[in-house]
Amino acid sequence: MVQIAPSMLSADFLHLEKDVEMVNSHADIFHLDIMDGVFVPNISYGFPVVEAIASKATKPLDAHLMIVQPEKYVERFAKVGASMISFHINATEDPAAVLQQIRSLGCKAGMVINPDIEVKSLFPYLEQADYVLLMSVFAGFGGQKFIESTYGRIAELKAEINRRKLSIPIEIDGGVSPSNAAALVNAGADILVAGSAVFKSSDPAATIASMRG
Ligand code: DX5
Ligand code: ZN
Repeated sequence: MVQIAPSMLSADFLHLEKDVEMVNSHADIFHLDIMDGVFVPNISYGFPVVEAIASKATKPLDAHLMIVQPEKYVERFAKVGASMISFHINATEDPAAVLQQIRSLGCKAGMVINPDIEVKSLFPYLEQADYVLLMSVFAGFGGQKFIESTYGRIAELKAEINRRKLSIPIEIDGGVSPSNAAALVNAGADILVAGSAVFKSSDPAATIASMRG
């Protein structure tokens, strides 16, 4: 069963509690985009906002770190309530060590690549990862157009996961909506992140339901 992870980057920050309750009632995971203005050319939000969401959340918090040197901050994200933490493998010198660090905090460890990084660059670390996030846009901004080559990348990753008899969920992030959700699930996606499709919808609950197929 696919899991839907609304990206809180597109939530209404003046009425965050209302959007947290909507996710609690209708979705599966809170997707939290953490941007530092260095790894990506945008700045989002940090610990106080994550902690506030965690105080009302009844679903897991998935922190997607788009920051350099994620090893400096994973512990604090775990402390403020993230139970899934992912980072871009090219944002650190030692991805295996960061995966291990995240696991040692009792969190699920995820690794992320942008659309221009080869899927096979993930393969050396697959055994140490609890999930993989494939970007279907270039990390940095909500509301971008879905990149179609994502389908082939999911298939390539899924084939390697199956070949090694692993069970690692594949998360897809960027430009996901009811129009491509079914095709992504067919290609092998397990978790779908959606920001603008959910929060710009006049009926977020119905939009989430339609993404479940
Ligand atoms: C982009 C973020 C995404 C983004 C998704 O850097 O990682 O999570 O918020 O937004 P949409 O669904 O609008 O593409
Ligand atoms: Zn994200």
